[in-house]
Formats: sequence, structure tokens, C-alpha cells
Amino acid sequence: MDQNKLIDLAWKARENAYVPYSHFKVGACIALKDGTFVQGCNIENAAYGSTMCAERNAIANMITHKDNKIEKVLVITTNGRVLFPCGSCRELMMQLDESAAQIEILMSYPKVKTILLKELLPNWWA
Ligand code: THU
Repeated sequence: MDQNKLIDLAWKARENAYVPYSHFKVGACIALKDGTFVQGCNIENAAYGSTMCAERNAIANMITHKDNKIEKVLVITTNGRVLFPCGSCRELMMQLDESAAQIEILMSYPKVKTILLKELLPNWWA
């Protein structure tokens, strides 16, 4: 998997974020097991609960394109800081399929560190 491409695409997706309220742009990129990538950015709304996270939009994009085999996920914000996916998005990913617990989340780069989704969502309820 091309780590640099994952980072580059998350950074580019961040540019398209629609953040009139928080001004906190987030980009996400998911590397799929077939070698392709899907992107997402956050989209905010005046009805705040309707705001959509970058990683959630990347997941929606992925499913729209008929795939759900995630290898690695990166969420990134301004200044190149890597974010952990929020709690709701962890839950959304965990329910994708039976191997979702093994999804790798990128925690840092250029010194690459990853954590598994099951470690970010321990004692999962299902
Ligand atoms: N946000 C994400 O896109 N992903 C996260 O994991 C955390 C938060 C967005 C939601 C909102 O548009 C902005 O960041 C500030 O909370």
C-alpha cells in the first residue's frame, strides 16, 4: 500500500471541507484492500447534528462505490496533524463486516504508527 499516496489524498480532500462554523478542516482517506483509495472531507450544517465527519463521508463514498474492504484509514487536519476517528465513526466502521476489528488506523507519520480499530473500540458491544 502506498503510504505517501494515502497521506497526500487525505490532505487534498481536506481542502474541500465545508466548515463555516468550526473553521476546522478535516480530510480523510481510506486505502482499500484492492489497492484503490477513497476520500472524504467534513461538511458542516447550521443544524449542528447534521454535520458529517470527513471519515464518515469517506466511508459513504466507499460504499457508494460498492466496496467495504478497508485496509487503512487516515484522518488529518490543518497543520498535517493526524486525528483519531471520532467515537461515532469508530462504531460505523466496526459494523462494516466481520473483519472490521482489524482495520488499521494511522496514528502518526512520517514516523508511521498504526493502531487497530478493535484497540480504539475495546469491549465492543456486539
Ligand atoms: N470532525 C471530523 O471530521 N472527524 C473527526 O474525527 C472529528 C471531528 C469534524 C466535525 C466538525 O466539522 C469539525 O471536525 C469540528 O468538530
